[in-house]
Amino acid sequence: MTDQPVALPLEKIPQHVAIIMDGNGRWALSRGLPRLAGHKAGTENLRRVIRSTVEFGIPYLTIYAFSTENWGRPPEEVQGLMRILEDVIDRELSELDKEGVQLRHIGRLERLAPSLQEKVLDAVDMTKHNTRLTLNIAFNYGGRDEIVQAIQRIIRDGVPAEDVSDEMVGRYLYTAGVPDPDLIIRTSGELRVSNFLIWQAAYSEWYITPTYWPDFDKEEYRRALETFAQRDRRFGGISEAVANRARNG
Ligand code: IPE
Ligand code: IPE
Ligand code: MG
Repeated sequence: MTDQPVALPLEKIPQHVAIIMDGNGRWALSRGLPRLAGHKAGTENLRRVIRSTVEFGIPYLTIYAFSTENWGRPPEEVQGLMRILEDVIDRELSELDKEGVQLRHIGRLERLAPSLQEKVLDAVDMTKHNTRLTLNIAFNYGGRDEIVQAIQRIIRDGVPAEDVSDEMVGRYLYTAGVPDPDLIIRTSGELRVSNFLIWQAAYSEWYITPTYWPDFDKEEYRRALETFAQRDRRFGGISEAVANRARNG
């Protein structure tokens, strides 16, 4: 691993980075390999990106690994992606645990094989006291599905309409207690949200790169963070500089 010093102003490190790990299929195609080889290469890269996230001092990372729409892919690919999740847990769990990574799952477990569901739940349980990095794995995740489930639970809980607020809805989402993503990275150049964190991304900054996910390295990660540090996040207001100028006439 190349360990260059982190040259970022610390106050501008995002609290929460979310990544749409896209382009595995095209990465494989460009090398004349089967799509699953792209997913394997993507998984290797994920391992590096998790390490870099810890080194950069970012406390929350969410990764989009399988969407509620990805069931529409050929069955062999879906099976392959399930197997990859299983292998990752088998091979990486103890190392991630040692590094202080707390694993969480966001999405629906129901459609996964019972043995895989158990593996995911065990991994979450085993790492629940870790505090260095919270890693949310979005697997069988859909933003609309998440919101629909939140609405169902709010109704079931008998919450009066006037008590429903922005903050309260947030508490019914999978990401309850997790700050909204400051920065969302999407690899492979697609300019769309693809049902990822659609509620939580209301004021996220985006970094979109043509690089395919397996090639997204630490250098480019650092570039994404540097770009983020230069963004002027106004949240609907006006920037500090403009406000100061207005105050000083
Ligand atoms: C992202 O890569 C991984 C998953 C969606 C599981 P893709 O498989 O979408 O790769 P492309 O977009 O076809 O290149
Ligand atoms: C988004 O990528 C889902 C994941 C990265 C897991 P897709 O490849 O499924 O998105 P679309 O179909 O190009 O929008
Ligand atoms: Mg894709």
